[in-house]
Amino acid sequence: MANGSSGRGRFGQLGFIFAAVGSAIGLGNIWKFPYITYANDGGSFVLVYLLAIALIGLPIMMAELVIGRRTRQSPVGAFLKAAKNTVGGRAWGAVGALGVTGSFILLSYYALIAGWTVYYFGQCLSWSVRGVAVQDQALGESFGAFLANGPLQIGFHLLFMAVTVGVVALGVREGIERVTKLLMPVLGAILILLVVNSFWSPGFGEAMRFLFHIGPITADGLLEAVGHAFFTLSVGMGAMLTYGSYMTSRQSIPRSAVAISLLDTLIAIMACIIMFSIIFSVDAAERATTFGKSATILFTTLPRMFYEMPLGVVLAPMFYLLVGFAALTSTISLLETVASYLIDRRGFSRRKACLVTGGAIFAFGIPSALSLGASGALSAFAPFGERAEGFFSTMDYTVSNWILPLGGLLMALFFGWFLSSRESRAELAEGHGDVSRWFFIWRGVLLRFVCPIAILWIIWAVIGGRSFA
Ligand code: PFF
Repeated sequence: MANGSSGRGRFGQLGFIFAAVGSAIGLGNIWKFPYITYANDGGSFVLVYLLAIALIGLPIMMAELVIGRRTRQSPVGAFLKAAKNTVGGRAWGAVGALGVTGSFILLSYYALIAGWTVYYFGQCLSWSVRGVAVQDQALGESFGAFLANGPLQIGFHLLFMAVTVGVVALGVREGIERVTKLLMPVLGAILILLVVNSFWSPGFGEAMRFLFHIGPITADGLLEAVGHAFFTLSVGMGAMLTYGSYMTSRQSIPRSAVAISLLDTLIAIMACIIMFSIIFSVDAAERATTFGKSATILFTTLPRMFYEMPLGVVLAPMFYLLVGFAALTSTISLLETVASYLIDRRGFSRRKACLVTGGAIFAFGIPSALSLGASGALSAFAPFGERAEGFFSTMDYTVSNWILPLGGLLMALFFGWFLSSRESRAELAEGHGDVSRWFFIWRGVLLRFVCPIAILWIIWAVIGGRSFA
């Protein structure tokens, strides 16, 4: 039965994988990972990131899927139900509430950046069609002007939220599964094409050396790698938990989680190959002045670089389409996490829940949209002082530095120390078979000690003034 006995949605086996991989792969892979890798000098940073994915992100993802599927509830209900007989009882519901709140805030600015990809897709199409010679300077300026244009920012944010609401309102199977099954293969195909294309670029060799050389890494780099492992895998906020609640019992949680993590990592590395091949095609002196180590290269220097490449007129719009698709499959999961709370706990119909949450998230994103130059007061909003200036950065700082690590920490503690091992072992074995070979490592070592210690270290560093938004 497509809807499951409880009347909640249910993914097909492949549908779940597509949706979860879609949630994981997003701006984090194609936008954030390449630029933080560039800023941290590649090589060792990538290695630490891989370790963080395997030892911290993956175990917590499995935990989220276990609790979601076991309880068949959205985050708040899931923790309330799972924690019934544990120490702390109903207080654990707060972990779910933290996740829903985090998803709400994250979506409010994530959809805004996602809107930029739509704008750039349109821009590139028009540049390609008109055959305009795109100058670096002009692009940098046009990006700045775009950011400062309040109505445009709000308009593209609204557009992206509307599409997200439209998909999620159609339901788990008819909306989320159908759309992610369609978009993910297209995204994979465009990526492969771009990677193959980069083999011929003059910067390819240096890009590979940069990506895989082993060199020194700073403590900040270590922290950033661990923090990003959460973000990129969509863990710590209940998004995977929510998707897990629609997963069939015939499917293996460990195998699915490994597949999702591997695919997410593969795409992040592919995105680096594409971007770095372009970046390293420029000579070093020019690179130092034009790129800096800035977060905005995706929208400033990259378009120009595309137009200097053969086939750039085709590749440039394609690239922004790809980033837009990747972002959409992530915004869908974030909205589902918030909307499912209203559906499960407050009895809303799916349609109404999507409209209400989508509308509220859009409204909450407006100050972020206006804080990029349109409104002086919002650009100056800085309750965390220098760590995050402007409304947009403050929201990103709150989610990336506090909500994600805290959510991950509490989940690891819940599984490692509070939930009985009988419960989690039974759910892991469902659809998988014997888990005794590695169960102890997962629960007794990684979730009990490795994850909490690593995350506490992040939180300690954040308290001490470090910010890695
Ligand atoms: N994993 C997404 C990315 O890498 O862009 C971002 C994300 C989506 C984080 C959903 C958290 C989440 F719940």
